[in-house]
This record gives sequence, C-alpha cells and structure tokens, in this order.
Amino acid sequence: MKRALMNIIGHTKIAKDTYRLLLKGDIVHDIKAPGQFVHIQVDERFYLRRPVSISDMDVKEETIMLLYKVMGKGTDALTTKKVGEDLDVLGPGGSGFPAQNLGIRHALLVGGGIGVPPLYNLAKQLKADGVEVTSVLGFQSAEDTFLTEAFAEFGDVHITTNDGSLGTKGFVTDVLPSVEESCDMYFTCGPTVMLKAVKKQLDHKPGYISMEERMGCGIGACFACVVEANDEKGYRRICCDGPVFDAKEVVLS
Ligand code: FES
Repeated sequence: MKRALMNIIGHTKIAKDTYRLLLKGDIVHDIKAPGQFVHIQVDERFYLRRPVSISDMDVKEETIMLLYKVMGKGTDALTTKKVGEDLDVLGPGGSGFPAQNLGIRHALLVGGGIGVPPLYNLAKQLKADGVEVTSVLGFQSAEDTFLTEAFAEFGDVHITTNDGSLGTKGFVTDVLPSVEESCDMYFTCGPTVMLKAVKKQLDHKPGYISMEERMGCGIGACFACVVEANDEKGYRRICCDGPVFDAKEVVLS
C-alpha cells in the first residue's frame, strides 16, 4: 500500500445517495486483483480514512473508478469534493477476487447494494478470460440501482428490488435457484446478512465472498473487522487477510 495524492477527474451522482468518483494517479499500477480497496482521507476533520472498493481501473489512463454511498458525515463530506481537487489516498489494500485461469466456464456474480461495484471489474476480467458471466444484482428500489446496463455488457443480468419497483420483487436469493445450476463458481459482495444467505444457498459450489461491509481502520490495527475462520488460527482480519475470502474459509454470523 502506498500513500499518494490522486486528482479528481470526475465526480457524479449516479443513484440515490450514490456517487461515482474518478481519480487519476499512479496507485493504479499497484492493483493486483478486482475487489481491492483504497483508503480515502476525506479531510482533516475526519481522523479515520474511508475504505472504498475499486470498481474499475484503466492502467493506461492511470485512473480508478470508485462508487460510494453516503453512509455518514465522512462520506457526506466526500460528496462536496470537486473535479480538479486532490484526495489523499492510501492503497490499494487487501486481497481481491481471483479472476484469471480459474478453469471454469460460467461464473455467477451476486451483488447487493454498494457490494455491487467491486464485482464490476471482476465481470470485465472474467469475460475477457472467456468465462460466461451471469449477474444477480439486488437493490432496495429502482432509485438505488446503478451499473445494471454496464453489467449487461458481460452477460445476463437479473435485478431484484426489495419493493419490486424494478426487476424481481424480493432478494437476490429469490433469483438464485433459477440461475445457479449452470454456473461453476460464485462470487459475491454485499451486506453480511446477504452473504450468509447466498453462501448457504450456494454452499455446494466453490465460491468467493467479499466482506468489505465490516471494515474499520482498514490497515490491520484495530481488529474491528475480525471474522471467524475455519482453522486453528480461528479468525481473519477482513482489511488485510481479506476482504475477499474463499467462501469455505470463513464463518459468517
Ligand atoms: Fe482495523 Fe481491520 S479494520 S484491523
């Protein structure tokens, strides 16, 4: 992880309380896998940095795309940042999703809310590696949806909304039975309650889960992100051992 100033070259509201931030800087050269995150210092009023997953990157243009949702004062202050300003960024952090030479034909991507963005570059890389991609994306309502057309460039997309205002009314798990059979491996990111339900339903398949929702300091110091693991060590820190784990490696509670 390195610390650098990244220049804001785009900043747009794309859905309810959700923004797309385009940053330029050489941190992009250190990204190893989709699903890694950067740690943003919003300004001097906020001691803690905000971890935001990297949704996409362009190495040639030296840009990264971040999608974030306003969750509190820090992310609310981030919305006021203008194109042309610099942001103090630490990154890239954590592990990412394996995306190459997986030996699979068909991948199932399951994202919920702000867990959808880290799956975007994964979908792109899987498609480029010749893997068929099916995506199931869950949101609260139509006004919360984003990236749905972008995912459609890589394969079938199934949308669910809690209130039924777009796609299937309900949760991502309501759609899984109709799409999972042809898929060899699953990849999922979203709220822990969703990850737990997805893991339970797809436990007969190999899979990877990203647990970025439960992150604190983001640098391995506070142990606020500990999750139970299925081995002698007994735990993992999401920020530095994850946020992406083999689904069988961790216990979700
Ligand atoms: Fe602090 Fe992981 S978020 S140790």
